[in-house]
Amino acid sequence: MNKARFITFEGVDGAGKSTGLEWFANALRERGVDLLVTREPGGTPLGEKLRELLLHESMHAETEAMLMFASRREHVEQVIRPALQRGTWVISDRFSDASFAYQGGGRGVPVAKLEQLEQWTHGDLQPDLTLLFDIPIEVARERLSSNASLDKFEREQGDFFNKVRQAYLARVAQTPDRYAVIRAEKSLQEVQQQLADILAGL
Ligand code: TYD
Repeated sequence: MNKARFITFEGVDGAGKSTGLEWFANALRERGVDLLVTREPGGTPLGEKLRELLLHESMHAETEAMLMFASRREHVEQVIRPALQRGTWVISDRFSDASFAYQGGGRGVPVAKLEQLEQWTHGDLQPDLTLLFDIPIEVARERLSSNASLDKFEREQGDFFNKVRQAYLARVAQTPDRYAVIRAEKSLQEVQQQLADILAGL
């Protein structure tokens, strides 16, 4: 475990990504890894302000995409790259795959435009590993409905989340080596076992 790694967590809302992330981060810290946990949209003071807008204001899909990448640009320069350079591992709760899934798949922003933004924002930096929490949408929706205050994305209806899920899986199909797909509909214990197996392979 020498070189600092950049690891991202992804999945549709309600997949159990946050619980899995917490477990994984604790397990890494127990192994003595110097670790920074951060999130998107957000992760910097400006990014957190953009998060407020992104999660609560309605806007054109391409405005949304550009603001996601604007927040990310700040995050990469201020937080992610400096941490990796000083040898600190970084876990980000979402990164560019979420823009391809939600703005691309969910909202229909052309992938070619998102690829341009991605190239511009972090052309020379990709996660070393992305854990995708994949789950049938009905199960994810079931888990979300017990949660009282839903943000703009979580309130989306119908086919939106199926499109988000399919766009995530399309990203995996493109560069499978970067991803570990977690079967997130399983029990908490089984999900943790999947995470432990990934950890053992790092
Ligand atoms: P999420 O990460 O699920 O945080 P919480 O657990 O606090 O709800 O919420 C962030 C939302 O932002 C999520 O619904 C996905 C969305 N999102 C995008 O649409 N595009 C992006 O590029 C990112 C990073 C997030």
